[in-house]
Amino acid sequence: MVKPQTSPDRVQGRKASSRGNPAALFPAAAAHPYTGDVPPDLGVDLAPGHKTGLQLRNPVMPASGTFSWGLEFAKHFDINALGAVVSKGITTAPRQGNPQPRVAETPAGMLNSIGLQNVGLGEVIKSLAPTWAKWDVPVIANIAADTVEEFGEMAARLDGTPGIAALELNISCPNVDQGGIEIGQSVEASARATRAAVRHTDLPVIVKLTPNVTDPVALALACEAEGAAAICAINTVLGLAIDTRRRRPVLPRARGGLSGPAIKPIALRIVYDVAKAARIPVIGCGGIRTGQDAIEFLMAGATAVQVGTATFANPRALLDVIEGIGGWLEGEGVASVRDIIGCALPPRD
Ligand SMILES: Cc1cc2nc3c(=O)[nH]c(=O)nc-3n(C[C@H](O)[C@H](O)[C@H](O)COP(=O)(O)O)c2cc1C
Repeated sequence: MVKPQTSPDRVQGRKASSRGNPAALFPAAAAHPYTGDVPPDLGVDLAPGHKTGLQLRNPVMPASGTFSWGLEFAKHFDINALGAVVSKGITTAPRQGNPQPRVAETPAGMLNSIGLQNVGLGEVIKSLAPTWAKWDVPVIANIAADTVEEFGEMAARLDGTPGIAALELNISCPNVDQGGIEIGQSVEASARATRAAVRHTDLPVIVKLTPNVTDPVALALACEAEGAAAICAINTVLGLAIDTRRRRPVLPRARGGLSGPAIKPIALRIVYDVAKAARIPVIGCGGIRTGQDAIEFLMAGATAVQVGTATFANPRALLDVIEGIGGWLEGEGVASVRDIIGCALPPRD
């Protein structure tokens, strides 16, 4: 199905006058002043201008590639406690990924070069989506393509698939030869990839940005103009580790993607800059481990957050972040998480 191009106004998530006044953005928040009788309201909408919306019961979800398909975690805790689930990166055909070793530990973080190992789109639609459809939590499919046109083809195949609530375009993977960061480092190619996906699906399209550019805001605005429902910032930061014994890079492809607490200030800066300029919601991602980290991202303008590497050290990290946000709001006497979104941003002109 090919839809007419979406106007940026249609997906507008925030009115120009609402900066610093969340009640103007979310009138329901003003209607329920905090009384302390009920827990704070953690609900957010990640696609407020979109026809289906993307309502989350709380603003916390896993970062793609760090939660597999969600099935393993679903055995250990109530998956429906999350705001959303994000799948690992899906490609049209199954992929084996890159040679080992694929990860290297670094101070306050890790490098990875997984190379999008996954079962392929057909298997996701056939075997995984039916399970996701039974969950009471929206599942966001993270998709990666070699070309701009392939993003459109993948979006068309996922459109209307029960169990899939939204798409996240991975135009920012640093660990593959084609597509990935190659698209995400070009404003023009990012815009075309967004347009291709948006035209072929009614699902909200989230675009995941690479931090490995000079001007992420230009990328975000170009994707917004092509109908992206939200921006996710950020994917991993390009890095490298050396094995001094072998006198070679640790990772076979030399470069890898840096994640974990080491990148949190970079991610916060990009979220802040994008949220300042864009009108669609921003999902913050990068180094989030605690509720306090998440609160910083929300104040910097994120409507929701993703938790990735922290899950490897603490499989309960997502739940801890949800509890931490709730506890912080309660302690501060804030009725709704929506009341703090973007509160650290300057007023809009
Ligand atoms: C092992 C690993 C695999 C990843 N795979 C993907 C992926 O398939 N698609 C994607 O968009 N991002 C992928 N990422 C990036 C994460 O989703 C996230 O953007 C990044 O790790 C920063 O968040 P963090 O510091 O909380 O981990 C991966 C990260 C790691 C560590």
